[in-house]
Amino acid sequence: MSQAGNLLRTLEKEDLRILMGIELGMKKSEYVTIRDIRFYSRYPLNETLYRLKKVHKFGLIIRNSAELEVGYQINSIGYDVLALHTLVERNVIGQLGPIIGKGKESDVYSCMDDDENIYALKIYRMGRRSFKHVKKLRNIIGKRSHLSWLYVNRLAAKKEYEALKEIYKLGLKTPKPIGYNRHIIVMEYLRGKELVYYKDIENPVYLFNEIIFQIREIYKKANLIHGDLGEFNIVSDEEGNILIIDWLQSIPNDHPNALKILTRDIQNVCNYFGNKYRVDCDTQEILQSFLDKE
Ligand SMILES: Nc1ncnc2c1ncn2[C@@H]1O[C@H](COP(=O)(O)OP(=O)(O)O)[C@@H](O)[C@H]1O
Ligand SMILES: [Mg+2]
Repeated sequence: MSQAGNLLRTLEKEDLRILMGIELGMKKSEYVTIRDIRFYSRYPLNETLYRLKKVHKFGLIIRNSAELEVGYQINSIGYDVLALHTLVERNVIGQLGPIIGKGKESDVYSCMDDDENIYALKIYRMGRRSFKHVKKLRNIIGKRSHLSWLYVNRLAAKKEYEALKEIYKLGLKTPKPIGYNRHIIVMEYLRGKELVYYKDIENPVYLFNEIIFQIREIYKKANLIHGDLGEFNIVSDEEGNILIIDWLQSIPNDHPNALKILTRDIQNVCNYFGNKYRVDCDTQEILQSFLDKE
């Protein structure tokens, strides 16, 4: 990833256009022929070949000569380059920082805009092996015969970004969405760590209530259920601020399994605070407060 960041300075706009040509072609097929790359990039043959050779040397594409016609595929660094380039162009970010977290399906970096505001930059890395996560996205994907990892990661970023936007409107302390492109989202950063990494916290009851309050507001007003809530997806800092992250698998309230998933979310939080901090909590009672009309 930092590799992609450094390459941005070296690459010319023609190189990026070739990469975009391959990206477009990958909507239709796994490998894109030179003819198709020319079609999408609108470059003559010699320019196309020159650029292909260059981006191949930089390690941004994969060449497949096993078929009748040679084909190219963009790799994950190439895709990072395109997304970062767009985010820089749009002034969403100016600089990439160090890695701050690794999730089940993503890497998270810190980054900075030109005014030196620091954000978290989440980059989706679902590969062929973790396509089981795609189940979460089934309703959006539909019945596609050719499903590229590019598309899956792009879809994941879009879904999470849109959930963050809906939630942010409620004025709770949830990560402010800053921008997204392709498989990358940029959001507010909380300097802290996940609950699971705290040996002890000062005010467990306060934190517990705050978490329940937030997810209840989100349930009632944004009609969303987190779906993977637990000590791994709640970041907290020393001052007791919390940030519920990781909204990829969120589902709407009218989902057929909504009640089951909501109960599990609440149960997870109750178990954690109950076992570790002896916080008194009754899952059923809390659940009822979600369902009450008021
Ligand atoms: N907005 C953020 N602020 C601070 N740290 C974050 C933020 N978003 C993610 N992280 C860090 O990155 C890790 C992975 O992010 P997460 O959204 O949970 O990814 P995944 O969906 O892959 O589990 C988190 O556990 C956390 O340490
Ligand atoms: Mg996570």
